[in-house]
Amino acid sequence: MSGTTALERIIKRQSEIAVGNFDAIRIDVPKHRVYSVCNLRGGVGKTTLTFNLSYYADRLLAIDLCPQGNLSYFFDKEYYLHGANIRDALLPYLIPGMPSVERIASYVGATNQYFDGKNVYYIPSSNELYLLPSVLNSALNLTDGGLLDSTQRLAAISNALFSLRKEIKRETTQNNLDKCLIDTSPFFSGGTELSWHASDALIVPVRTDRQSINSFELLIKTMQSSASFRKYADKLEGFRTPKIHAVVLTHCGWSTRSGARSLPNQQTKVYLQQCYDIMSRNRRLLSTDNPENHLFILDDFLGSGRVSSLESKPIELLKQGDTKTFDRVKVTVNAAVEKCKNELRFIHRLLW
Ligand SMILES: Nc1ncnc2c1ncn2[C@@H]1O[C@H](COP(=O)(O)OP(=O)(O)OP(=O)(O)O)[C@@H](O)[C@H]1O
Ligand SMILES: [Mg+2]
Repeated sequence: MSGTTALERIIKRQSEIAVGNFDAIRIDVPKHRVYSVCNLRGGVGKTTLTFNLSYYADRLLAIDLCPQGNLSYFFDKEYYLHGANIRDALLPYLIPGMPSVERIASYVGATNQYFDGKNVYYIPSSNELYLLPSVLNSALNLTDGGLLDSTQRLAAISNALFSLRKEIKRETTQNNLDKCLIDTSPFFSGGTELSWHASDALIVPVRTDRQSINSFELLIKTMQSSASFRKYADKLEGFRTPKIHAVVLTHCGWSTRSGARSLPNQQTKVYLQQCYDIMSRNRRLLSTDNPENHLFILDDFLGSGRVSSLESKPIELLKQGDTKTFDRVKVTVNAAVEKCKNELRFIHRLLW
């Protein structure tokens, strides 16, 4: 190992991952039950990663906690017409008198043919999630009115902040599931905040641009902030900070120099190094104290990504040369699709 830098080792490992040579790789990390996919920035690949990882998992509850509902749309193009959703799960904890609802999760295989036979359920989004930050704030502020003694006050805060945690427990038990993957919005207040209180660990997609790096730093700052996420850390029984389990650099490009097919391009290397440096400075937030165990690459999906989202079809099921015509433009699954599958499969193995 000596003589090589961490970045060189990560890149070398990534070339083994690319060809599916997983046996050559040894990473010892603890496994968790509940993961939240988040970065406080839009368009970095949170939903795409959640959707594709869902396909590999067994006995999974996926939750769409983003008001845009993109994950729900992947699972069911008409999700907003059917049954209960995340609003029905959370509001009874936040608004006195709201009746609670049971069996909110839907079977994904019923509405997305590619999940038929897979043991994957999901809780759909609701566009009312846009109002969640203010509803949650009102619920927490109500406890400041002087009507409650300190024990009652803490019970009310715990009820609100751990609402999602309790619902995950109830839904996984009722549906005989043992894992959970949560897709979040780019904003902390409301849904993402509840997801952190519910998660054992985070998966953080970072796109190869400066803004995504800034958002990753903001995420780390927010995790440690006593004004926001840690506001009730010392008072609430059961409070814990999720670990950062995987940082996934998305939309990565590779060198086009001949003979350099498995080398990331310069831009990818720059952002890989920046992620590594941030992780090194914050080791105690990681699932293990070695950043090398937690930094991975996801290629730019190119045509495969387009075909996958147009058909709501996991990348795992695409084959090179598959085509889809949309708006009279023909999109083709590119040759790198096998590499993307291996990258996704490896991230899945790191989780469960
Ligand atoms: N690895 C990737 N390579 C190429 N394109 C990707 C990759 N991951 C995601 N995309 C594309 O980038 C766009 C944004 O992806 P996605 O919707 O998953 O991001 P997001 O973080 O969930 O965004 P939002 O914050 O708005 O919910 C989509 O068009 C998606 O197809
Ligand atoms: Mg999204």
